[in-house]
Amino acid sequence: MIELAPSILSADFAHLAESVQRAAGGGASVIHVDIMDGHFVPNLTIGPPVVRSLRKVTSLPLDCHLMIENADQFIPDFVQAGADWISVHQEACVHLNRTLQHIKEHGAQAGVVINPATPVDTLTEVLDIVDYVLVMSVNPGFGGQKFIPSTLHKVRRLTHLRSERRLNFRIEIDGGVALDTIGDVVRSGAEILVAGNAVFGKGDPKVNAQNLLKAAHEASLIKV
Ligand code: DX5
Ligand code: ZN
Repeated sequence: MIELAPSILSADFAHLAESVQRAAGGGASVIHVDIMDGHFVPNLTIGPPVVRSLRKVTSLPLDCHLMIENADQFIPDFVQAGADWISVHQEACVHLNRTLQHIKEHGAQAGVVINPATPVDTLTEVLDIVDYVLVMSVNPGFGGQKFIPSTLHKVRRLTHLRSERRLNFRIEIDGGVALDTIGDVVRSGAEILVAGNAVFGKGDPKVNAQNLLKAAHEASLIKV
């Protein structure tokens, strides 16, 4: 099943509730929340208070993508604020197994994220404990960047490993997903599609979400 996860990073933060509800009206089924600390990535965004506010205005799962160095310290706060899914970067977690277990113990779904330069093989030892793997198709830090097509082979490799090892994790992709890239993304096997600029950049988020999902479903019918 393909899901669209609009990233609020590109939304107008003064009108978050309305933006999220418009996107949900267009078929979005997950809300992607980008948490940046100014250390791991060169940008600062939001923390648990905004997640808490979002929790009150949508029943969709809140997918918190932590681009921060000290994830362990903040996991309880994000879960308490209403995060349903929490993903952490392989590159930022020295004790990755412990951090993923920590997320699960707090009752959230646990995801692991890899940057464009990080190989899938660095995840070999955690694929059996994660609920999802997020493949970055841009270098994290900003919305509206250009999609990096060479990241798609990692999605294909993950689908292969998943069936070979009979695992159940889902595959998410994040960065530069738009009408011109979504076909390749879906055909590579990605199931949860994050899109920031393509949903909230311009126009109506509801119509944008509908158009992206339509293109994604069309591409999934001609999967090769
Ligand atoms: C980048 C973030 C993405 C970003 C995606 O660091 O993780 O979620 O918001 O934005 P677009 O879809 O505009 O590339
Ligand atoms: Zn993200």
